[in-house]
Amino acid sequence: MRRIKTAASGALVALGFALAAGSALGHGDVQPQPVKTDGLKPLGAEWVAENPYKGDAHAIQIGASGFNQNCARCHGLEMISGGLAPDLRYLPQGKEGDEYFVERMRHGAVINGVTKMPVFEGLISQEGLWAIRSYIESKHEE
Ligand code: HEC
Repeated sequence: MRRIKTAASGALVALGFALAAGSALGHGDVQPQPVKTDGLKPLGAEWVAENPYKGDAHAIQIGASGFNQNCARCHGLEMISGGLAPDLRYLPQGKEGDEYFVERMRHGAVINGVTKMPVFEGLISQEGLWAIRSYIESKHEE
């Protein structure tokens, strides 16, 4: 009995995923905007553990535009959240914040089988994502 129940709930979760993906697509919501990373040091395919562009003015500028096109609709323009998603000005600085960041970029946020935040790994280059992280850190508040 237990087994069957587990299988059934697994199927429900899968259905939830499909529905969430379907409705997001329906709103044209998951269309990622490419981030142009000319002038940034190339990083390759493996994730680096810490932001290689921290404090870099050029990266921050690229990241601001990348953020506004890909993240602001949930996290707020200029990173001031209207409450739909966490206010990223309070994301920790340095390595701790970098870890949160990579975790979210790779796994998104799925809550009770509903995708609240899409996965960005593979949609935006690692260079583009660290540029966005640089922008986020430049706006950090305690
Ligand atoms: C469709 C809405 C949506 C989009 C688009 C989105 N996010 Fe999120 N994000 C969320 C939600 C909702 C959460 C909170 C999930 C939770 O409660 O665990 C979150 C959480 C996060 C967190 C963790 C914050 C914390 O305090 O734990 C980070 C970092 C983050 N997002 C970065 C980004 C970045 C960078 C982008 C753009 C590349 C982005 N998000 C795009 C909805 C979104």
